[in-house]
Amino acid sequence: MDKKRVMVTGGAGFIGSNLILHLVENYPEYEILNVDKLTYASDLRYLSKVSSSSGYTFSKTDITDRASLAKLIRAFRPDSVFHLAAESHVDNSIRGPEPFIFSNVVGTFNLLEELRLYWSEEGMLETARLLHVSTDEVYGTLGSDGLFTEETPYAPNSPYSASKASSDMLVRAYHHTYGMNVVTTNCSNNYGPHQHDEKLIPTVIRTALQHNPIPIYGKGENVRDWLYVADHCRALDMVFHHGRAGETYNVGGRNEWTNIDLVRKICSILDVTVDGGPDGGYARLISFVTDRPGHDLRYAIDATKLEEELGWHNTQSFENDLKATVAWYVARYKK
Ligand SMILES: NC(=O)c1ccc[n+]([C@@H]2O[C@H](COP(=O)([O-])OP(=O)(O)OC[C@H]3O[C@@H](n4cnc5c(N)ncnc54)[C@H](O)[C@@H]3O)[C@@H](O)[C@H]2O)c1
Repeated sequence: MDKKRVMVTGGAGFIGSNLILHLVENYPEYEILNVDKLTYASDLRYLSKVSSSSGYTFSKTDITDRASLAKLIRAFRPDSVFHLAAESHVDNSIRGPEPFIFSNVVGTFNLLEELRLYWSEEGMLETARLLHVSTDEVYGTLGSDGLFTEETPYAPNSPYSASKASSDMLVRAYHHTYGMNVVTTNCSNNYGPHQHDEKLIPTVIRTALQHNPIPIYGKGENVRDWLYVADHCRALDMVFHHGRAGETYNVGGRNEWTNIDLVRKICSILDVTVDGGPDGGYARLISFVTDRPGHDLRYAIDATKLEEELGWHNTQSFENDLKATVAWYVARYKK
């Protein structure tokens, strides 16, 4: 197997850290460079298992700093890039969109442009590969039926999804204009270990353990398609190694839950795994709060292309994976 030089941007965040653990375990011969600015959402301790591995290095670099990124690319000489670095929380993008434009749009542009320059100089533009990791939120919202396919028109509704849609368009343009070897994935909501406190599942578990009200937007009717982060990492691995250049692949769990049903499910896991819950169970703490502006009603992914073309399948072990996830956050918040 080739000895690849793999740069992972955003590798100290939720999905990036799980991806690096997956890559180190499955491709011990790869040289991996984790490039991360270390925002509030990151934690290098997620990578303590691999931090002293000979094939792993870390650089604290902000991809909006083009000069530093250019220097780093020339020093590391990547032939493979997984691009995950991004501001990722919709609520933050509503409160203050500017960092989303800088990191997600300008940062992606800097990365594309510096890779294009370097790979062109080295005659590697068509052989080296960039996998751009994006979201199903670029497609906007669905009604009560239908699924997002790769052909669904983009209709982003939040500053976050608009910034990701913009980055997807830049990646597409670098393929069509310069012949860059890119692939893009658009994935549904991930769950699993290493997610920042602010996101839905960690918030539910943390507030429940504190016996505080568990905040649910609106009436909790919004539907999301939940995918375990390890299944997403396997999909990224497959698309990176076998996806066709210039293509996009949707990644999803065929696992739709309304927010209220998901939260009730988490509460029922807490009821049987954590002693000392409130009388009547953790679900009694559920409290409906004013809805998020522009809150998309439903996201659901048709992953047929990924399944049929690359043979990826969701492991379909939602019960066990959710229990393992709850246990991971209980251990974190009980410390
Ligand atoms: N979490 C999900 O459910 C989900 C679903 C689909 C797609 N995605 C996409 O996957 C990627 C990773 O998401 P996540 O949930 O792990 O996010 P995260 O917020 O947990 O991690 C993002 C990481 O990027 C880093 N980062 C941010 N701005 C940077 C910059 N300017 N320079 C360098 N590093 C920077 C942060 O420090 C952090 O470590 C994002 O691109 C996101 O849009 C996430």
